[in-house]
Amino acid sequence: MKALVVANWKMNPISWKEAKKLFEETKRMSGLLKVSVIVAAPPIFLRDIGGLRRGKIGLAAQNVHFEQSGSFTGEVSALQAKDAKANYALVGHAERRAMGETDDDVRKKVAALLALEMTPIICIGEHVRDDEGSHFTFVREQLLTALRDVPQQKIAKVIIAYEPVWAIGAAEPMRPHDMHEMSIYIRKALVEKYGEVGHKLMILYGGAVDGTNVGTMLEHGGVKGFLVGRASVDAKRLAELLRVMKDA
Ligand code: PGA
Repeated sequence: MKALVVANWKMNPISWKEAKKLFEETKRMSGLLKVSVIVAAPPIFLRDIGGLRRGKIGLAAQNVHFEQSGSFTGEVSALQAKDAKANYALVGHAERRAMGETDDDVRKKVAALLALEMTPIICIGEHVRDDEGSHFTFVREQLLTALRDVPQQKIAKVIIAYEPVWAIGAAEPMRPHDMHEMSIYIRKALVEKYGEVGHKLMILYGGAVDGTNVGTMLEHGGVKGFLVGRASVDAKRLAELLRVMKDA
């Protein structure tokens, strides 16, 4: 499995001029250091980025609507994102869920994306942890609801991003050991539902990842890919991160 960075730009940067510059830099570094990158850009920049020479860089919407078109003011459909040349989409990011997105919405979005041959990057993660391990059941429920309509022959196309909500935007990521434990738990749920192919699915970690901590996460976290917010919208910090990942 190759190392992967999904650069979640969130609502950044503030102009197309800056977005283009950041994208060109990202592309250059990804090519130079041979780390796969998918850029999850704001919808306003998707089509313009889609029109650039992208090389091997993947392009993701940060959210999509499951209907193809209709009366959904302010929304962008998976079909429209695909038309803008996005081949991936984040689904159920914690910041979307905080705005009201439910497990059931996530399930519909995943199905809509797969029907269009796009890759859903399904974001799951608990708000809190306790000694009873309720975070495991919480994550399992999110995962299994998101995958409810995904048949065996489509599962290979899915990417899972585990992001504990408490680590997003935090100073430090979760402990690599805890990530390792969660990656085994998620993998087990996937294998139980889908068999062998569950071993091959990409599981990403997200939450406060940057060049200073990605090395230990790679070594002890049981993951080879990351969903990166803040460190992906600063070209210097992204370069630092990709440099550490280069040999992974
Ligand atoms: P962060 O965000 O890297 O800024 O913590 C991660 C995310 O929300 O995907």
